[in-house]
Amino acid sequence: MSSAAPVVTVDGPSGTGKGTLCAWLAATLGWHFLDSGALYRLVGLRARRLGLALDDEPAVAAAAARLPVTFTILNGEFRPLLDGADVAAELRTEAAGTDASIVAALPAVRQALLQRQRDFRQAPGLVADGRDMGTVVFPDAGLKIFLTASPEARAARRYKQLSDKGMGVNLGPLLEDIRRRDQRDQQRAIAPLAPAPDAIILDTTELGITEVEDRVRQLLREQGLA
Ligand code: DC
Repeated sequence: MSSAAPVVTVDGPSGTGKGTLCAWLAATLGWHFLDSGALYRLVGLRARRLGLALDDEPAVAAAAARLPVTFTILNGEFRPLLDGADVAAELRTEAAGTDASIVAALPAVRQALLQRQRDFRQAPGLVADGRDMGTVVFPDAGLKIFLTASPEARAARRYKQLSDKGMGVNLGPLLEDIRRRDQRDQQRAIAPLAPAPDAIILDTTELGITEVEDRVRQLLREQGLA
């Protein structure tokens, strides 16, 4: 195992700017990138395609352990191929996010994905995006960042993202969905969404991406990572 490779973890709920920060970090450092949420989304999608009930823990965990997935980076984006097909668009839907959050609450599913996530840790380093990167998957990471933002700010960002893509959405249901997903992710028995005790918490409600990057650049310097 290449346990010597350094890791920066970025955890937090969706809509806090994690994805944007991680893409910038991976490009700045020239490191690998793990989008762990995509793995849970892939498990949800695979379970649906196999016709499994999302709460059938042994069956969904078996599907997670045998996920026929490979990863490519396309234009700097992390693109998973499921059974050889690009499923990026299907994975980004709100429904796929909800399915991911449901299967992610199953301990056997989390266990099935643990080693697969740790295998991303390779030289020269890894930027890991998720909910439990700093607490469970890479507890020895050299820098742990936890992003937060108010549910309203996160719903507004998501609304803008979807509207910019020409998708018809309503803010109210988006906010409701975010609150429900937060509750499920924070209250599950195993690896709940929470900052590691040694994580640096950044509230992005009032911060633009440049301000977040400036703060993280300073943290990288303090840790001797840049
Ligand atoms: O980051 P995302 O929105 O793609 O994640 C989708 C869901 O997957 C999220 O609601 C909770 C779950 N998840 C998780 O439990 N642990 C992770 N490390 C990443 C995601």
